Amino acid sequence: MLDIVSQAMYKFVQQCDDAHVLNLYNQIERGKMLRSKLILLIAGQTPQAVELCAVVELIHLSSLLHDDVLDEAHTRRGRPTIHMLFDTKTAIMLGDVLYSKAFSQLSLMDKEVAYTVSSAVTSLSIGEMIDIELSKSFNTNQQSYMDMIDKKTASLLEASTKSAAILADKDKDSFAIYGKSLGLCFQIVDDILDITQDSETLGKPAMNDFKEGKTTLSYMLLYHELSDDDKTKLRSYFKKELSTDELNWIKEKIKKHDTIDKTRQIAKNLAKDGLNAIKHEQNKKLFDIIQDILNRER
Ligand code: FPP
Ligand code: MG
Repeated sequence: MLDIVSQAMYKFVQQCDDAHVLNLYNQIERGKMLRSKLILLIAGQTPQAVELCAVVELIHLSSLLHDDVLDEAHTRRGRPTIHMLFDTKTAIMLGDVLYSKAFSQLSLMDKEVAYTVSSAVTSLSIGEMIDIELSKSFNTNQQSYMDMIDKKTASLLEASTKSAAILADKDKDSFAIYGKSLGLCFQIVDDILDITQDSETLGKPAMNDFKEGKTTLSYMLLYHELSDDDKTKLRSYFKKELSTDELNWIKEKIKKHDTIDKTRQIAKNLAKDGLNAIKHEQNKKLFDIIQDILNRER
């Protein structure tokens, strides 16, 4: 089902009419295409829906090209990132080519869909800026984390499900709530996996968020449970290359305070909000996708 989306993306990149761009594009590691799965499930496999999928996936790919430069990430999905294979300038410009091509296609689509998706790109860019700002100091404010992941991750998922509903003449507001809840769950679980999984499973370094200055939800929940001495210790580990003993200290505290379960519970409650919004749909696959996100291990 998703091959047709890959073909549509390839066609758009071919239309850029540049052999270097096409060659670089072919070297980007493909992802799960979650946004396309959702769009096709909601709108059906119509030509318009497939085009929307290709636009959204190109935007998502380009945002990750930029994100990997900003995060100085060496690997993604187990493979070297484009800026490591080539250089930073190439990765940034390839991102610009892909998302501007996506925008040209978007300008030819339904006006409300175009507005919904393009506004989401403003949000996700602001979300990334907030993420960078928050990473400068030890953040203990849960609301600012939720606001950041809402913009950085949930906005494009919300725009995808809402736009699919617009194309299919379904209730756009319910599908927007579903996409937003799913997006928040996705990022919370992603941040959990950074702590619980090893580097091989993740395809990128494990326990990397805290080193990068990202005090994700589990770290915040843990911090509030710690004694004053332990709070000071955790703060002293922030943004540092930690020894195995120091990493184990954090993991033991997380285990002792049941922090991962508490974080998962927050994701589960968000999932319930999303499922509630589309309960009238009786679409089991949309239920299963949220379940898969909650249970995913990589
Ligand atoms: C991954 O977050 C990053 C995003 C979901 C959004 C990135 C957005 C930009 C860089 C703005 C630029 C936008 C365009 C369209 C060029 P993460 O670092 O938490 O996740 P990761 O572990 O997968 O890297
Ligand atoms: Mg990143």
